[in-house]
Amino acid sequence: MKILITGGSGLLGRALISASINMGIDSMPAYHSNPIGRASVKIDITDLHGVERTLREIEPDCVIHAAALTNVDLCEMTQHVHGRLMLTLLKMSLTRVTMRG
Ligand SMILES: NC(=O)c1ccc[n+]([C@@H]2O[C@H](COP(=O)([O-])OP(=O)(O)OC[C@H]3O[C@@H](n4cnc5c(N)ncnc54)[C@H](OP(=O)(O)O)[C@@H]3O)[C@@H](O)[C@H]2O)c1
Repeated sequence: MKILITGGSGLLGRALISASINMGIDSMPAYHSNPIGRASVKIDITDLHGVERTLREIEPDCVIHAAALTNVDLCEMTQHVHGRLMLTLLKMSLTRVTMRG
């Protein structure tokens, strides 16, 4: 099983990566502006076409969505983003989607 972890450069994402390594699960961390030191992919969750393209390339079995806009003011201006991302993931016919945040 291949897992794509959005927000892989964040606090929660880093913990999820460590857990997946410990469990021997194949994970692909995604970052936005802070590259991670191992094989990773750049994703901007506000760029839906880019997300769709990346999902097609990686073809993950599962996505753990740990990316978040932790800046509260910015978050209030972009409330629609997570809902639209969810629709994109469903369109890609993923077998399982887990969202945090
Ligand atoms: N920390 C906890 O203990 C904890 C516990 C339970 C739930 N949560 C929830 O988990 C979520 C993440 O929390 P966190 O503490 O890990 O936050 P964080 O450390 O601030 O990490 C945020 C992550 O989101 C990424 N990100 C931000 N904007 C993005 C964008 N436009 N496109 C793609 N990725 C983007 C960041 O990437 P870059 O850094 O590369 O820009 C970073 O990896 C939040 O919703 C939080 O409420 C956190």
